[in-house]
Amino acid sequence: MLKIDISKALQFIPEGAVQKMGADAHAANKALEDGTCPGNDFLGWMHLPSGITPEFVAEIQATAETLRQECDTVVVAGIGGSYLGARAVIEALQNSFAWLIADKKNPTILFAGNNISEDYLYELTNYLKDKKFGVINISKSGTTTETALTFRLLKKQCEEQRGVETARKVIVAITDAVKGAARQTATKEGYKTFVIPDNVGGRFSVLTPVGLLPIAIAGYDIAQLVKGATDMEAATATDQPVEENPAAIYAIVRNALYQSGKKIEILANYSPKLHFIGEWWKQLYGESEGKDKKGIFPAAVDLTTDLHSMGQWIQDGERTIFETVLSIGEPNHTVLFPHDEENLDGLNFLEGRRVDQVNKMAELGTQLAHVDGGVPNLLLSIDRLDEYHIGQLIYFFERACGISGLMLKVNPFDQPGVEAYKKNMFALLGKPGYEEATKAIRERIK
Ligand code: PA5
Repeated sequence: MLKIDISKALQFIPEGAVQKMGADAHAANKALEDGTCPGNDFLGWMHLPSGITPEFVAEIQATAETLRQECDTVVVAGIGGSYLGARAVIEALQNSFAWLIADKKNPTILFAGNNISEDYLYELTNYLKDKKFGVINISKSGTTTETALTFRLLKKQCEEQRGVETARKVIVAITDAVKGAARQTATKEGYKTFVIPDNVGGRFSVLTPVGLLPIAIAGYDIAQLVKGATDMEAATATDQPVEENPAAIYAIVRNALYQSGKKIEILANYSPKLHFIGEWWKQLYGESEGKDKKGIFPAAVDLTTDLHSMGQWIQDGERTIFETVLSIGEPNHTVLFPHDEENLDGLNFLEGRRVDQVNKMAELGTQLAHVDGGVPNLLLSIDRLDEYHIGQLIYFFERACGISGLMLKVNPFDQPGVEAYKKNMFALLGKPGYEEATKAIRERIK
């Protein structure tokens, strides 16, 4: 089971603060369970893991199997919550060089619809020219510009390359049950569809088909992912004492640190496979807590890589940060430190030891150095990188995010700030219906 160690953070928090905040954390967790908190129309994620039936998993697996048979490449089009969860899980599980490995048993999964870069889209469509590709069009609203643009291009290319009938078999839509362009197109074309439930917000949707279908297509065991999440759902429920609930402990300590002036949280990993877990976590916490002029700024680093770039700042810069280290117990492979006859680098003393032992000492040494430098440190450990433990981690972060946001006294489930750029972009582009805004913004920039 995921473990949390807060012993290297406590010295930075006023004595007794953690105990005092226990009642708040319990109340926040109870409000989530009872559905009495702000944003309570978006609590569908709470019991998603335990509510997923074997039949539903089988339906997703069957669709995944069709795409696995019919495609060498599958493009997942989506942005934000309709993108990051699937990518985070797939990249945590897959071979670091998956794209380069010939003779693959799994289709290559590509991600698009998450930017408006012309070069990216040119290069993507060019790459796909000789591929038997399929598309998963993921958009809850069904109208997000980045995704809609990408889907237009991919639908046309897929139909031209593979014929309209085959395209209908290898394009899947994951969207609202009735509303939006993605739903309308899917109905018209007869695509296989999955629904994003109304009461699950984008950033909490990785355990819906939004995450589960791409993960299954990539060849991973979604039943184990759901099992890990289900076990964490039980471990973080209000019938567990707060002091044994890892999500409540995480929420308490990060709020206590925030109140003590630590405004930035850095999520640090020691495996490049976790890079996108960091990206997913940034969205989850950034969109949930950054509002009403409040909220911890979520940042992420990949270590030891970034110790050679951001390490100086973390060790010695402005003391407004704390660090949460994501640690993996056992790697999935073994590599031993090799012997070198000449020993010019002086590293023969490490000969025969696991590389992971060196990595773990880098992790511990860095933690201690950062604490000495005034950076509070939290340690989250999972046993290994597999579907079950990633399922635990996902639900842990989601539950802690709900508790933490409510303790901060914000609505963790809305994102009003995301609309501002869209309004300006449409006004600048002269979208019909935006005439007044277009006039005003053009005045502003002339
Ligand atoms: O968390 C969120 O709500 C957002 O990040 C959305 O997922 C993102 O904006 C994409 O929206 P949609 O799925 O409607 O295309």
